Amino acid sequence: MENDLLTVQNVSISFTQYVQGLQQHILKVISDLSLSVKEGEVVAILGSSGSGKSLLAHAILGILPENGQCDGTISFKGEVLTQEKKEELRGEHICLIPQSVNFLDPLMKVREQAIGDVKDEEKEKALKHQKEIFEKYGLAEEVGDMYPFELSGGMARKVLLSTALLSDPELVVADEPTPGLDQASVNETINDIKRLAQEGKGVLLITHEIDVALKTADRIAIFYSGYVIEINKAENFNDVNKLLHPYTKSLIEALPRNGFKLTSGVQPLEEVDGCPYFENCPIRSDICQNNKPDLIDHNGIMIRCHNFDKEVN
Ligand SMILES: Nc1ncnc2c1ncn2[C@@H]1O[C@H](COP(=O)(O)OP(=O)(O)OP(=O)(O)O)[C@@H](O)[C@H]1O
Ligand SMILES: [Mg+2]
Repeated sequence: MENDLLTVQNVSISFTQYVQGLQQHILKVISDLSLSVKEGEVVAILGSSGSGKSLLAHAILGILPENGQCDGTISFKGEVLTQEKKEELRGEHICLIPQSVNFLDPLMKVREQAIGDVKDEEKEKALKHQKEIFEKYGLAEEVGDMYPFELSGGMARKVLLSTALLSDPELVVADEPTPGLDQASVNETINDIKRLAQEGKGVLLITHEIDVALKTADRIAIFYSGYVIEINKAENFNDVNKLLHPYTKSLIEALPRNGFKLTSGVQPLEEVDGCPYFENCPIRSDICQNNKPDLIDHNGIMIRCHNFDKEVN
């Protein structure tokens, strides 16, 4: 599509596991996932813990584990990304704000790992730039001299964010940038991400915190059991009648009861023939049991359901 930075089409991610060393078992974590991120847009992926969100981020960056298999296509500015191309773009045009501070080298000072390997003659410039970016995201200069274990949770998040932004990427994949932060730090992170979009970058925001998705994103993709079942504008989440999928509706209706948090995990299930939501669905019909609905475009809303209300727009 025009001005799409990132296009993910029909991506599935699975693992081959060996049960008791003998039997092969394919564990499908993500199935037939499609979404896009435009310049200047924040798209949130909202899914419960263990639903495969980090794996999607790693597939985009080309850092899936060895036993992970990724099918489908991932494109950047219209060009299909091969593993080589992902490696070329990674850390330059596409950056990951990782979920865990374990991505930082525990034995290296923050400043050194932020600037990475640079030639001697470029070091001064790199340090100046690092200082500017750290300052922009509220990190004092002495933070550069710290080791990862010396950082508080909020500081560590800022270090991950500013380090990812040093190369001025066009696309940022932010994997759970807010858990464990106090409310003030959460708000700062939300503002930082919005600012990235205002600067024209595309952001894929991965989160299980619906309030963060609502406050930050332009569009929200809802993950259920390895499938994206709806992608809708964030503003439509204020009115349950503008949501199409019964799971999305129930999620939003249950929020006050659940303290505005997603309820506990919907884990990847064994592959089913029909709709992944069939068992729980209040509007299911015969077709849903054995026919998997495709993700289709309904007036700009992406929806995977045979029986949604076609009058909604
Ligand atoms: N190397 C691996 N081999 C086999 N299965 C794996 C591997 N890595 C991940 N998985 C499976 O994929 C599932 C999804 O993992 P992932 O880390 O993407 O979840 P997530 O949505 O990011 O969860 P969280 O909210 O906890 O970060 C895991 O529950 C696990 O079952
Ligand atoms: Mg994760």
